Amino acid sequence: MIVLGIETSCDETAAALVDDARAVRADIVLSQLDEHRPFGGVVPEISARAHVETLDHVIARALDQAQLGYAELSGIAATAGPGLIGGLLVGVTAAKAIAAARGLPFIAVNHLEAHALTARLTDDVAFPYLLLLVSGGHCQLLIVEGVGQYRRLGTTIDDAVGEAFDKSAKLLGLGYPGGPEVERAAAGGDPKRFDLPRPMKGRPGCDFSFAGLKTALRHAVAAHGALTPRDVADLAASFQAAVGDVLADRTQRAIAAFKAEHPSGDTLVIAGGVAANRALRGRLSALAAVNGMRFVAPPQLLCTDNGAMVAWAGLERLRLGLTDGLDFAPRPRWPLDAAAATLART
Ligand code: KG4
Ligand code: ZN
Repeated sequence: MIVLGIETSCDETAAALVDDARAVRADIVLSQLDEHRPFGGVVPEISARAHVETLDHVIARALDQAQLGYAELSGIAATAGPGLIGGLLVGVTAAKAIAAARGLPFIAVNHLEAHALTARLTDDVAFPYLLLLVSGGHCQLLIVEGVGQYRRLGTTIDDAVGEAFDKSAKLLGLGYPGGPEVERAAAGGDPKRFDLPRPMKGRPGCDFSFAGLKTALRHAVAAHGALTPRDVADLAASFQAAVGDVLADRTQRAIAAFKAEHPSGDTLVIAGGVAANRALRGRLSALAAVNGMRFVAPPQLLCTDNGAMVAWAGLERLRLGLTDGLDFAPRPRWPLDAAAATLART
């Protein structure tokens, strides 16, 4: 089985080919960063236009890299939500057109499910596992019980963690996207110099909150006046340490809930763009070790948005016969736990 996966939900135009032996035959990611950078964030209209202009070329490059033609494919998968509607329409329409023209099955992939299942592509992780999903739009703890079977233990009540990184980078005068810039600045900084809050730490449940941390950082910046590079490094390190403490605290609680339900479950997986952060990976890896759990984090290029994760999620669904009609409409909002309802319907 070989599946083509298309990702256009945000600011990356990506296409990849993955097979059922877990080999990534091709993986092309074209970032729109340069187009959005002058605006300090993703501009939906610019994004949709860039997807239209580049997607055909990106798909052709993926097929070329894998030395495959459409005749050798088993299915066409595309991210159908959640995300920016313009981009979703471009990717889904392209996938449906190829599927219709070639008589291939079409698979509508939930972007969060694609992040969630990546650890099965990279490390062959068995169900069930505990997942910390941290991206630009989401921050959730989930028990992954099967394809389309997710139980959410906690989510953010305000900002997503990637969003907190991006906004903090702006406050510190760092570039866009903020996550990698904050990580770079923090590498040389003192994480103890600024005493920032750890929202929700020690509270019952597994929910997150990052708005207060961002506000505290804004106050610290305002109180400080002009920032030297050392100040920026120390603020970035203090912010990243606070995020690490919060993620570790919430995840520790989720581990207890997960183990209570699945005593034999032994794997903690981290996924999504923020999972590319080395300091946070180290923090969660240590937490897993303390709890006697295996820790799995996909390679960085498979943490941030890519086509391979979409192709893999499509392949997992195709194997179970979970394909979609060509009338499937993209969903700008599509919570992952509702994917269980999709499974039940099919
Ligand atoms: O998963 P992703 O590529 O797109 C979404 O689905 O949202 O995640 C993008 C987010 C951005 O907020 C970006 O700043 C953050 O992931 N990110 C990072 C790092 N690399 C990307 N955050 C912290 N440290 C990083 N190294
Ligand atoms: Zn993503």
